[in-house]
Amino acid sequence: MSKSQEHAIQKEVDKRRTFAIISHPDAGKTTLTEKLLLFGGAIRLAGTVKARKASKHATSDWMEIEKQRGISVTSSVMQFDYNGHRINILDTPGHQDFSEDTYRTLTAADSAVMLIDVAKGVEAQTIKLFQVCAKRGIPIFTFINKLDREGQSPFDLMEELENVLGIRSVPMNWPIGMGRELCGVYDRMKNQVELFQGDDHSNIQVQKVDSYEDPVIREMAGEFLHEQLKQDLELLDVAGDQFDYEKVLKGELTPVFFGSAVNNFGVQTFLENFLELAPKPEPRRSTQGMVEPTNEKFSGYVFKIQANMNPAHRDRVAFLRIVSGKFERGMSVRHVRAGKEIKLSQPQQFLAQDRDIVQEAYPGDIIGLFDPGIFRIGDSLSQGGNIVFDELPTFSPEIFSKVTVKNALKHKQYQKGIDQLTEEGTIQVFRTASFDETILGVVGQLQFEVFEHRMKAEYGVDVQLQRMPYQFARWIIDEKIDPSKFRINSVLVKDKKDNYVVLFENEYAMRTAIDKNPTAQFLEMAP
Ligand code: G4P
Repeated sequence: MSKSQEHAIQKEVDKRRTFAIISHPDAGKTTLTEKLLLFGGAIRLAGTVKARKASKHATSDWMEIEKQRGISVTSSVMQFDYNGHRINILDTPGHQDFSEDTYRTLTAADSAVMLIDVAKGVEAQTIKLFQVCAKRGIPIFTFINKLDREGQSPFDLMEELENVLGIRSVPMNWPIGMGRELCGVYDRMKNQVELFQGDDHSNIQVQKVDSYEDPVIREMAGEFLHEQLKQDLELLDVAGDQFDYEKVLKGELTPVFFGSAVNNFGVQTFLENFLELAPKPEPRRSTQGMVEPTNEKFSGYVFKIQANMNPAHRDRVAFLRIVSGKFERGMSVRHVRAGKEIKLSQPQQFLAQDRDIVQEAYPGDIIGLFDPGIFRIGDSLSQGGNIVFDELPTFSPEIFSKVTVKNALKHKQYQKGIDQLTEEGTIQVFRTASFDETILGVVGQLQFEVFEHRMKAEYGVDVQLQRMPYQFARWIIDEKIDPSKFRINSVLVKDKKDNYVVLFENEYAMRTAIDKNPTAQFLEMAP
């Protein structure tokens, strides 16, 4: 590759920001996403986000489940341009029945935006998603939403971030008033006041000031709110964390923004600051060392497989995160696990009904590849080499069912279905050593419904699922594993790679087992 080609790739990499929004349902993720897309004039997106949320995009039978329940099972990617940046938002399903896919999608993001409802604070699903991001050490930016409503004090929320999530925070802006009194934010980095006027706060007046003590603020926001702002910011200056970019990049400090997505208030400031601070696509670890985005050879890995997005074709789409080089339509690449060359002729970039054929793409971009059944989660593709990226983590399931097939004659189709759905990463399969029972583990209840439905619709197999009382799975590593130790409130099983896993009914049983087996390691993710 010539210097100028390398330079061209570098330019594209520098432009890109690939991130996911993590939040609990109802915090306003759909609303915020929509506002961000409006700023950008989305270039690849079918319908509005709301329409997608209302499941008007359901494209196949099993998605009826999604339609009936009004939730989004599918997660996809939205791309737009803003201020010279190309932005990829990875959509993560927001309902509580989210799946392992949601977690895995986070592995394809370079940073995360954590959205929090000012009244509700840190909620259950946010905690889980945060932990996955924190393990990867990616930068996390916080947007505290719904400031137009009465909520908790910003100080209490910052304390909650620290106590519940263990992350320090640094407010980038600070609200002037809250709820009905909210009139704007003070930007601590740029020393400016943004006042929101009009019924929908859409008229934004920006005023540069010397500091938060500037009497101009008093004129703009009134004496009472200015006094309050001064007190708050003095306290922050003395007792709060300083902005430290190194810590932000390591995920040790989260920059916090306040706003109200539905009123489009604070969203633009947030977006502009975020784009400045969020990392561009980073090098990734592989068996051959770090792979730089500007590496002349194209490479990427599959992090998600989506079945039957189009009922007319019983195909699957494999989502590939590009790690290095330039993707060009029709190029030949090595499917490393399969050990053969394949041609990428039908790549799609938007991944719902309207399939948009991609001509070229760069590191940080996500492309959808037509998959006639040749890909598995974690597969690496590379040009001219055998690069294998680090394996994607297997997340610990939390709900378990015993599965049996109703008609024994269908056993072959049943096995095929189980194998394929495992490859897609929608379910994890465990087997008990003694009775050869099959136990399925999932992260969200909906995955069982999808499993049952797809086994019938796609493989013609009626299955029976019987819920089991286990709630935790831990991969166990020990010199000698004694199944008799795991009989009460637990069971010893094997995963598909024959690793030993213990399923526990409750946390107490798990703690006791860990205490009683000091030589064993109990891992939350597969080794
Ligand atoms: P989600 O994707 O995170 O589940 O949340 P979504 O954006 O759907 O927002 C959940 C609800 O919160 C919606 O109200 C939405 O309008 C509201 N909301 C979002 N941002 C703000 C905000 O800044 N302030 C206030 N007050 N509300 C906000 P809904 O009544 O459930 O739906 P809709 O009828 O408004 O569509």
